[in-house]
Amino acid sequence: MSDKLWGGRFTAKASEWVDEFGASIHFDQKMAAEDLEGSIAHAKMLGKQAIISSDESAQIVAGLESLQQELTAGNLTFDVKNEDIHMNMEALLTEKIGAVAGKLHTARSRNDQVATDFHLWVKHRLPHVMSALTDLQSELLSLADKHAGTIMSGYTHLQHAQPITYGHYLLAYFNMFQRDYERFEFNQKHTDILPLGAAALAGTTFPIDREFVADELGFSDIYHNSLDAVSDRDFALEFLGNASILMMHLSRMAEELILWSSYEFNYIELSDDFSTGSSIMPQKKNADFAELVRGKTGRTYGSLLALLTTMKSLPLAYNKDMQEDKEQVFDVMDTVIASVKIFTGMLNGLTVHEGQMLAATQDDFSNATELADYLATKGVPFRKAHAIVGQLVLKGIQTHTPLQKMTLTDLQAAAPQIEADIYQILASETAVNRRTSLGGTAVTNVKKEVTRNYKILEERQ
Ligand code: ARG
Repeated sequence: MSDKLWGGRFTAKASEWVDEFGASIHFDQKMAAEDLEGSIAHAKMLGKQAIISSDESAQIVAGLESLQQELTAGNLTFDVKNEDIHMNMEALLTEKIGAVAGKLHTARSRNDQVATDFHLWVKHRLPHVMSALTDLQSELLSLADKHAGTIMSGYTHLQHAQPITYGHYLLAYFNMFQRDYERFEFNQKHTDILPLGAAALAGTTFPIDREFVADELGFSDIYHNSLDAVSDRDFALEFLGNASILMMHLSRMAEELILWSSYEFNYIELSDDFSTGSSIMPQKKNADFAELVRGKTGRTYGSLLALLTTMKSLPLAYNKDMQEDKEQVFDVMDTVIASVKIFTGMLNGLTVHEGQMLAATQDDFSNATELADYLATKGVPFRKAHAIVGQLVLKGIQTHTPLQKMTLTDLQAAAPQIEADIYQILASETAVNRRTSLGGTAVTNVKKEVTRNYKILEERQ
């Protein structure tokens, strides 16, 4: 007989390297606390239901609680021979309390046990992601508040398009992170479901009380189908998907931080504590941390794709393939929380070069739409107005003269409808402040949005 906990029907022992290949203890020990938590709830339930005696239940619970203390003190060591966290804990419990430990696994399988541990692990950590996101959103909001009137160029195709405010730009990200937050809320709902009690796949003949276990572990729902309970990894995929979208948002903003702190843009400067120097070029100040967040987006997508691919085609219910689920989620959890925190810190120490931002809107042609709209309101068909302004822009580029520096005579030669009030219209401030349409960039809009968003964050507390 093999010396494994499941070794009864085996005659030969596997070699060490084969054991090593099948083991997950080197990573699933991260769920040690959750494994003990789940086992304590299960042992209490077994006692309460008289599936084991109350004395046996008490001995098991006491043993598990003392393992909890040793875990917190860092005194537990695991053995690859025992394959995974579940069997390591059972072995440690047996060492501690003897043969009665063997009763803990009554009415339970590692299939519902691992699912429960994993649900608990994610359920415990999603709030950390969400609170990091709240901090980031509140940082964005105070920056947007400060820069509600800071004018900069808005871009399409990375070409100057129309003037906007920096506050408006920041609120765009605030809204993306708001949706990210809501996606994690939904994710929490799908994680907050108890699998334990499904046993291997079909339920159990023992008179278990799943409601009691759900209450003990703080789950607000219970899987109502035992096959689903042990097969579902949607909650993990949802987390990886949500994290990928969030990282994509961070990566877009990272790209802008990097670009905008370059010599050519010089719109912003990152604080020294969120920049690095070069070992050879003394003048360098690199946006390393923004670059790293952008880079880590790749590994996050990789994890999503890895688990999606692992899960596809798996017949119900448990398959060992599913052991591949945890490392992806563990890694992305660390990545995403750290990346959001880094962003909050970067934004907190950011210097904004308002003059440089404004100047970039003053010698370009980002007010061309203003002139075209002006002509349209004077009855010139918009297509014609567009062509007239296009011609003026071409001339302006050739003579290095922005529209607002052209003489009224020159402008009227192109379109006699133009009057002296055009210079006011062409100013970047005017272009911004006339965009009062719902969701537009006008300073009054941005201020209102800041107030509305402050309320969203207040209600979240
Ligand atoms: N280590 C396994 C995992 O992470 C635990 C479940 C194993 N169940 C089984 N029947 N082999 O998925």
